Amino acid sequence: MADLSTAYLGLKLRNPIVAASSNLTSTIKKILACEKAGLGALVLKSLFEEQVRHDTGRLAENIDSSAHSDAHDIIAGAGENHLVDAYLKLVEEAKKRAGIPVIASLHCLSTRSWVTYARRIEAAGADALELNLYRLADDPKLGAREVEGGYHEAVKRVAAAVSIPVAVKLGPHFDSLAESVGKFRDDGATGVTLFNRYYRPDVDIESLRAIPAKIFSSEREMNLPLQWISLLSGRVQTDFAASTGVHDAPGVIKQLLVGAKAVQLCTALYESGLDFVPRLLAELSAWMLRHGFGSVAEFNGMLCRERCASPRLFEQNQYIQALVGIS
Ligand SMILES: Cc1cc2nc3c(=O)[nH]c(=O)nc-3n(C[C@H](O)[C@H](O)[C@H](O)COP(=O)(O)O)c2cc1C
Repeated sequence: MADLSTAYLGLKLRNPIVAASSNLTSTIKKILACEKAGLGALVLKSLFEEQVRHDTGRLAENIDSSAHSDAHDIIAGAGENHLVDAYLKLVEEAKKRAGIPVIASLHCLSTRSWVTYARRIEAAGADALELNLYRLADDPKLGAREVEGGYHEAVKRVAAAVSIPVAVKLGPHFDSLAESVGKFRDDGATGVTLFNRYYRPDVDIESLRAIPAKIFSSEREMNLPLQWISLLSGRVQTDFAASTGVHDAPGVIKQLLVGAKAVQLCTALYESGLDFVPRLLAELSAWMLRHGFGSVAEFNGMLCRERCASPRLFEQNQYIQALVGIS
C-alpha cells in the first residue's frame, strides 16, 4: 500500500477521503462505521439554526402561556437546548471514540448565532469547523453585496472567536468566485469546500405537482469542482476540498491532481455503501504505485492550471471554441 497520508486544514489525515456532511455522519454508530471503513476524516451532519428555531417554535406553540407568563420562553429555550445539546454531545462522543479528525458543520441565520454555536462546538472538542454558507437569494431586492457581505461578516467573526481551523463550504453561485475565495481566506478561513449541492425542486407533469428532484449527484457533476479547484488551487493559498459528483477512485485522483487536499464523498457512500471505501483506497494506492508516486504530496496539484501543460483547457474560451469551432 502506498503512503496515502496527507494534511488538510492543518490536521493529519491517514488518507484524503472524507465523509461529507450528511445523514451518514449524524449518529455515533454511523460515525464509528465511517472510521472502521477507513475514511481519513468526517464532516458531521450540519447543525441548522433554522431547524433549532423551527422545533423550538413547534414546542412553544403548544404552550398555554396564560397559565404561566414565562412558559413560552422557558419551553422555547429548552427546545433549543435539547437540539443543540444533542449535537454537542455527538461532537464530544465522536471526538472521544472515533480515531479520525472530526469536522463539525454549521448553518446559521445570524452572525450572532454563527459565533455562539461555533464557540460551543469548539468547546465540545471538534477538530475543525466547516461553515455551510447558504442563503437562497430569491428576493429581487436582495443584492449580491448584501448576501456575500453577510457570509464574510460571519466567517470573520467565527474565525476570530475560535482557535480551531475554519473552512467554508460554498455553492457554485458566485459571480467572482476567485475573489470570494481569496476574501474568505483573508477573513480567516483556512479551507474552502467546492461545492455544496443543494436541494433542487422538480415538477411532476402528470400529477401537476412540485416534487423534490433527485437528492444524489451524478458523476457528470464532478467537472465543476474540478475546474474551479484547478483554476484556484495554485493561486489562492487555502486548502481546497472537492465535493459533488466524485463517485469513484478515478474521480478522487482527478481532484487530487488539480489541487484538492481532501475529497468529500456523499452520494458514492450512500449508493455503494461503506464497503466501497477500502476498495477505493486500494485503487488509489495501486494507481500511485503504478505512476511511481511515493506520497500524495508528490502529485497533489500537479494539474492545477498554474502547473498544467495545457492550462487553457480549464478556461472559458474552450466553451466558445466548442460552440463556434474557432481555435
Ligand atoms: C441526504 C443528504 C444530506 C446532506 N446534508 C448536508 C448537511 O447537513 N450539510 C452540508 O453541508 N451538506 C449536506 N449535504 C450535501 C453533501 O455534503 C454533499 O456536498 C453533496 O451531496 C454533494 O456531494 P456528492 O456528489 O458526493 O453527493 C447532504 C447531502 C445529502 C444527499
